[in-house]
Amino acid sequence: MDIKTYYVKATISYPYKLCLVTDLHDRPYRKILQSVRREKPDSIAIAGDLIIGKLPSRGTKMEQARHALPFLRACASSCPSYYSLGNHEAFLSDTDLAMIRATGVQLLDNSYTRLNKDILLGGLTSSRVTDYRRERKAYYHQHPEDTRPYPFCWASYPTNIPRTDWLSDFEAQKGYKILLSHHPEDWEPWISSHKIDLTCSGHAHGGQIRFYNPLKKQWKGLFAPRQGVLPALTAGRVKGKQGQLIISRGLANTAWPIPRLFNPRELVYIQLY
Ligand SMILES: [Fe+2]
Repeated sequence: MDIKTYYVKATISYPYKLCLVTDLHDRPYRKILQSVRREKPDSIAIAGDLIIGKLPSRGTKMEQARHALPFLRACASSCPSYYSLGNHEAFLSDTDLAMIRATGVQLLDNSYTRLNKDILLGGLTSSRVTDYRRERKAYYHQHPEDTRPYPFCWASYPTNIPRTDWLSDFEAQKGYKILLSHHPEDWEPWISSHKIDLTCSGHAHGGQIRFYNPLKKQWKGLFAPRQGVLPALTAGRVKGKQGQLIISRGLANTAWPIPRLFNPRELVYIQLY
């Protein structure tokens, strides 16, 4: 597992260190906690895909996940911790959300909170989650007799559009604004026009297979969902007019049978100064 620290200049009174966890996909987390003990971040921010997005065969998603709840409890006992939802969190029920909150981790579900007098943190929920919620609500309205918790799998008419109506209120707040947004491909169309200082993403798993491009003298990813082949946004830092985007390569692999190649798992720290 690589550990990467980004240094970001910010208009804040005291330095602040954020640990960014993405795409853990219900994997063991011992090395992450060891690193957190060494690095002593001020907070931990989970930017989606903590679990695996399969329909649960019994119980709820969080009950079936092996490592997610213990990991959240361990995070909350280390330092203030926050969780924003990615596409794999589409099947979380209200019971699951209550279980997450009970760990002590603050859920940022299209909402924001203040970390201290200088810094705010928001969480933009994946459109996969909001699309599924919308269709499930409509389905139950039409089929009140159906009590199955998951009457269908993925949303039939995905919009791929996250719910951004709260971002204007977020950007109007005084302070340095950090947004957790699981999908890096959402930055350009939905986020970069807002005055949000820093956006943190994952999802692309570094493009799964990474290779070196000698012409551009840089490493590139091969494929990412919704970005296709040779995607632009898979890892690293991108600067925009109003703010910047940091993309983690993530902490696990779900693209079986395609292995991660030249693409170690990555735990990111962001040192604001
Ligand atoms: Fe994802």
